[in-house]
Amino acid sequence: MTSPNYPTPPSDLTFPPAFHWGVATSAYQIEGGAKDGGRGPSIWDTYSHTPGKVLNGDTGDVACDHYHRMESDLDLIKSLGVDSYRFSIAWPRVQPLGYGAWNEEGLAFYDRLVDGLLARGIAPHITLYHWDLPQGLQDQGGWESRQTAVHFAEYARVMGQRLGARAASICTHNEPWCTAVLGNELGRFAPGFKDTKIMLRVAHHLLLSHGLALQAMRAAGVKAPLGIVLNMSPSTPASDSAADIAMAKRDYAQFVRWYMDPIFLQQYPSGPDLPVCDVVQAGDLATIAQPMDFLGVNYYTRLWCSSATPPVAPPNAMGVSDMGWENYPQGLTDLLVQIHGDYTLPPIYITENGFANADSVVDGRVSDAPRIDYMRTHLQALKAAMDKGVDVRGFFYWSLMDNYEWDSGYAKRFGLFHVDYSSQVRTAKDSAHWYTALIGQHRKA
Ligand code: NOJ
Repeated sequence: MTSPNYPTPPSDLTFPPAFHWGVATSAYQIEGGAKDGGRGPSIWDTYSHTPGKVLNGDTGDVACDHYHRMESDLDLIKSLGVDSYRFSIAWPRVQPLGYGAWNEEGLAFYDRLVDGLLARGIAPHITLYHWDLPQGLQDQGGWESRQTAVHFAEYARVMGQRLGARAASICTHNEPWCTAVLGNELGRFAPGFKDTKIMLRVAHHLLLSHGLALQAMRAAGVKAPLGIVLNMSPSTPASDSAADIAMAKRDYAQFVRWYMDPIFLQQYPSGPDLPVCDVVQAGDLATIAQPMDFLGVNYYTRLWCSSATPPVAPPNAMGVSDMGWENYPQGLTDLLVQIHGDYTLPPIYITENGFANADSVVDGRVSDAPRIDYMRTHLQALKAAMDKGVDVRGFFYWSLMDNYEWDSGYAKRFGLFHVDYSSQVRTAKDSAHWYTALIGQHRKA
């Protein structure tokens, strides 16, 4: 039998021996089992079942059926050669309403997941909130209500005590900008509001809940490194015009600084063109600015800022993904160097970076050269930032396998493994072989 000829990584793409290599997923995007094991409904169940909200009416009811295929999925992760796996806990699986009773069956699922990873020599990196708020809490106001932050801290304490001793890290939130803006200002994600005032309250309560959760976990003696994961991009003005330059500054303030400044500088960015949040109470910023053990950075593309009508399109010189996002690896270097200069940061992990491609299986093989190019150029850009002194400890590819891409449903494929949703068969793409070879180069030494 002839073995397929997979593309190989360049031999000079090298990282320090202690650098961590991982893949990432999130609960709602892969688990399915939406009504199994005592799980309560989340805002994404409600939203995805509302006609017209998600492409093709796709829901996460079954997704990759990971809830029932966890053991064999752990073998898939192992087969990649990674040493780290980032996943999220579905809050409504462990506490169906988001307050009150805990669900032992749900807690036991994550015990098995963590133990299964450790048995395979893979470090568990836990995300507490990847957007699936229990519907029971949304019914009481969701993140617009300060009380949700208090419930979140209690959830964090319980999960920290249960899993903290076995976790390689725990992060409170994944991409709070997405929850706040996509979910509450642009109405593209659950819960689907279009209201800037609500968005600002949600963003503040997410940040507050992060601070309260860190305090609660530390007070409970949780020893795992604690942090947060933010989506970040540098911004580029489309021209030298004063309007484009001002737009780039404002977009960066709302996308990056709105989250980084409270956490690391204990203040919100302010200025004539920036909004003001009306629910900030005395002491909140000190709570938010808890010391952290790591910062997770998710990077996909840059912010391109054109104030013209119609807007000037980005150059897209290195292509675009199936999401329509410009491939701009230089942006990863620029962003990391910028935040390294602007703040005093803990060690950084690239907790997500990935590429959506219209993949299909042909004769048992998935040729995804554009994804490999994306990974290679972004890892080169990461290395360039590290060479400039940015302390980055690991890289997680998004995602382990194709999954539920939120309002795009199953139409966008980010995985290293292709998923056939009718049979649940997983097929390693060329990029999976490439990533394994890259990791292998680092293990030889
Ligand atoms: C960021 C999110 O954390 C993840 O859920 C999503 O699938 C990827 N980006 C790709 O859009």
